[in-house]
Amino acid sequence: MGAQRLDEVRAAFLADIESAGGDAAAVENIRIRYAGRRSGLLLDLTAALRELPNEEKRDYGRALNELKKLVADRLEAAKSGAHTRQASGPGFDVTLPGLTLPKGAQHPVHLVRQRIEEIFLRMGYDVEDGPEIEDDRHNFEALNIPPDHPARDDQDTFYVSGGRLLRTHTSPVQARVMEQRKPPIRIIVPGKVYRRDSDLRHSPMFHQIEGLLVDEGVTFGNLKATLETFLHALFSEHGVDVRFRPSYFPFTEPSAEVDITCIFCGGSGCGVCSRSGWIEILGSGMVDPRVFEGVGVDADRYTGFAFGLGLDRVAMLLYGIPDLRQLFVGDQRLTRQFA
Ligand code: DAH
Repeated sequence: MGAQRLDEVRAAFLADIESAGGDAAAVENIRIRYAGRRSGLLLDLTAALRELPNEEKRDYGRALNELKKLVADRLEAAKSGAHTRQASGPGFDVTLPGLTLPKGAQHPVHLVRQRIEEIFLRMGYDVEDGPEIEDDRHNFEALNIPPDHPARDDQDTFYVSGGRLLRTHTSPVQARVMEQRKPPIRIIVPGKVYRRDSDLRHSPMFHQIEGLLVDEGVTFGNLKATLETFLHALFSEHGVDVRFRPSYFPFTEPSAEVDITCIFCGGSGCGVCSRSGWIEILGSGMVDPRVFEGVGVDADRYTGFAFGLGLDRVAMLLYGIPDLRQLFVGDQRLTRQFA
């Protein structure tokens, strides 16, 4: 009975390894079933040796050793070169498609950033960037937000050592560029920003894009025309209306918040726009002369406008993503949909 069992196991093993083809996981399962250290079939066959009558032990032992070697060799071959083994074996079909690597896709936030950059590059803007670890002066003071200013409370800042912080907005790059360059300045600044905030609509890291234009004779009319052109292009598929509401930012005066008609209901009111028909999309205003003074730009000669918006929010709107946090878990099932 012992020798017969060996033959059965050998036949079963050869059939299994054949049907595994080049599949590494299947080969591993076979290894565990036959050669597993704790409960493999070869272990059972070895234990059975003890039960055999003495005269059968020698032949059985020899056959068992041969089987062990066969199993070890075939497993090794299957593991190390499953595909080359197949390729050199009989019946290899050279017309089978090759191994394909899973393809990645561009992230929705990146797609939105590219789209916005293209619109502003057409209008003659440059793309700038700045440090994510900022100093207090650029993140706050140069933007007319002194130490005791209540606007600081709106931005739950992550402070790091040496009085530095993770920038809470992309606005500090306005100040950095104006310190280094004379007007005319026409820039947009995409980048990561950080605030201590986390829920369906907030994440501790998110993305903004800042805009700044400084020249002689720049008016609020220029600001309006620029942002209307921009928003009509960004939401061109939706044909949105744009409205300006008076608002307040420390670094602009006057300031305006800009809304578009809700792209989900077309302005009639729905859950996404809180029944208002409008969705707030960006902040903007004319650069406050105090900001110019702080960075050495002649406020009598130059005027300018600035604006800032959240890229993640635009991605959520354009692609209908309900939870901001889905953007940052790295699940390809999300990103592949928008490629
Ligand atoms: N920095 C502002 C924020 O993070 C956004 C902003 C508003 C930027 C108005 C601007 C602006 O340049 O003019 O909330």
